[in-house]
Amino acid sequence: MYAAVTLFVFMCLTATTYADHHQPCHPPNMTGVMAVMTLKGDVKACGAFTYDSMGKKLRFRSNDSSPFNTSLGLDLLMFFDEGIFYEIDSKNQSCVKKTLQCNLHPLDIPDDANFYSTVTTGSPSIEGEGLKVNLWTGSMPGSKGHYSMSVTMGCLPISTFYFTESTSLLFSQLDIELEIKDPDLLVVPSFCLGQPVEETPEGTLNSFLNEFM
Ligand SMILES: *[C@@H]1O[C@H](CO)[C@@H](O)[C@H](O)[C@H]1NC(C)=O
Ligand SMILES: *[C@@H]1O[C@H](CO)[C@@H](O)[C@H](O)[C@H]1NC(C)=O
Ligand SMILES: *[C@@H]1O[C@H](CO)[C@@H](O)[C@H](O)[C@H]1NC(C)=O
Ligand SMILES: *[C@@H]1O[C@H](CO)[C@@H](O)[C@H](O)[C@H]1NC(C)=O
Repeated sequence: MYAAVTLFVFMCLTATTYADHHQPCHPPNMTGVMAVMTLKGDVKACGAFTYDSMGKKLRFRSNDSSPFNTSLGLDLLMFFDEGIFYEIDSKNQSCVKKTLQCNLHPLDIPDDANFYSTVTTGSPSIEGEGLKVNLWTGSMPGSKGHYSMSVTMGCLPISTFYFTESTSLLFSQLDIELEIKDPDLLVVPSFCLGQPVEETPEGTLNSFLNEFM
């Protein structure tokens, strides 16, 4: 997480932007850990994620036994292509199905993102002590906000800041492995099948990150 904060400082200091010849990359299938914190320092959630990059499916389950004092218990199954998601409660085998109004999420760079620059965290001159990252920025649809993402040269997400008028969130990804370890996590649990889509109240914007606000 400190690396991510450092990166942000980097961004503030990097005055030059490069010519915009970069196309946003897309990550491969992944399993890893994701931590979500506010810029006030509260850790909102920390847990495992599974991401299917072709199917645009994401499962995130916060883990109460993480070392952080987290404030949210979340189990989310997102289907970005279908525009729906499930809030799952495995304990009482219940779930809520909702429509997604915004597909933004911290594992993939939006197609309309702007390339900002390439920087090296750590040391560029000492073997194995530097990590070269690409920084991308963009604005958030439907709200007065913007984001800044950092990814490795292989397009693995490192961290994303979302800044909105009401809140700012930092998503950090750790311990990424390039496979889906448990494909069942991306399948709708049987107790969620046949669940009606909950109506979205007027003025509500459902998105992955809104679940953490
Ligand atoms: C990613 O995972 C999905 C679901 O398990 C699978 O269908 C797809 O072939 C995988 N893609 C790659 C490139 O491994
Ligand atoms: C939660 O974290 C503990 C300790 O790190 C780990 O053993 C467990 O598998 C995790 N559970 C989930 C659902 O990720
Ligand atoms: C965890 O958070 C709760 C609520 O914010 C607080 O009351 C409690 O003291 C915190 N515990 C630790 C160990 O920080
Ligand atoms: C399941 O538990 C959650 C809180 O833990 C509660 O909000 C929800 O209403 C419960 N659902 C059912 C069907 O009991």
